[in-house]
Amino acid sequence: MKVNLQNKARSLRENNYEISDDIIYRWSPRQMTGEVVTLEELKALVAAGSWAPSSRNNQPWHYYLATNTDEAFSDLLGSLNEGNRIWCKQAGALLVLVSHTKAEYKNKDIPTHSFDTGASWMAFAIEGVRRNLVVHAMAGFNKEIVRDFLEFDSNSVIECMIAVGKPSEDISKDKVSVRRPLTESMTLLK
Ligand SMILES: Cc1cc2nc3c(=O)[nH]c(=O)nc-3n(C[C@H](O)[C@H](O)[C@H](O)COP(=O)(O)O)c2cc1C
Repeated sequence: MKVNLQNKARSLRENNYEISDDIIYRWSPRQMTGEVVTLEELKALVAAGSWAPSSRNNQPWHYYLATNTDEAFSDLLGSLNEGNRIWCKQAGALLVLVSHTKAEYKNKDIPTHSFDTGASWMAFAIEGVRRNLVVHAMAGFNKEIVRDFLEFDSNSVIECMIAVGKPSEDISKDKVSVRRPLTESMTLLK
C-alpha cells in the first residue's frame, strides 16, 4: 500500500487560510524504506530549488548529492550525529547544501547568501512533499568532517544536510509538528 505523506499532517495541522496543501502539509518525517531515490528525482528537486528568488539572482546555493548506492553516502552518513544517523540509514539519498559568500561577478560579497539558500531549500522541500518524498533538513552533523571530505574553499558555507527518501508505513510513529499562533509571528504597523 502506498504511504501518503501529506495525510498524516492533514489530520493534525489546523489552518484557517486558503494555502497550498504542499506548504501546509509539508513536514519532516524520519521513517523511510531504504529504497534508492533516483538521480532524476533528485535533479527535479534541485531544479525546484533553483527557482527560488535570490538577491541579484546570484543563486548562491550548491547541492552535493549522493544516493544510497554511491560510496559517498556512507561518508555523509558517518558525519551525522548519532541521533540522525540511526534514521538516515534508511534514506535514499543524502545531500549537503552549501552557500557561496562571494559572487562570480567581480568576487563581490553576497550578504544574503544564507537567506537565498534557505529559500532554495524550501522550494526543494515543497517539491519533495508534492512528489510524496521525505525531505528532512539536518544541522546535526560534523561540519569539519564534511568540509574535509568535500574540500570546500573558504567562500563556501555548509548550511545543512538533507535526507531524502521514500516514506515507510512507520511514518505513523513520527511526530507532526504544529505552529505557534500567527499573532506571535507578525506585527501590524499603523
Ligand atoms: C536548518 C534545519 C536544521 C534541522 N536539523 C535537524 C536535525 O539535525 N535533526 C532532525 O531530526 N531534524 C532537524 N530539523 C528538522 C526540524 O526539527 C523540523 O523542520 C521542525 O521541527 C519543524 O517540523 P516540520 O519540518 O515537520 O514542519 C532541522 C530543520 C532545519 C530547517
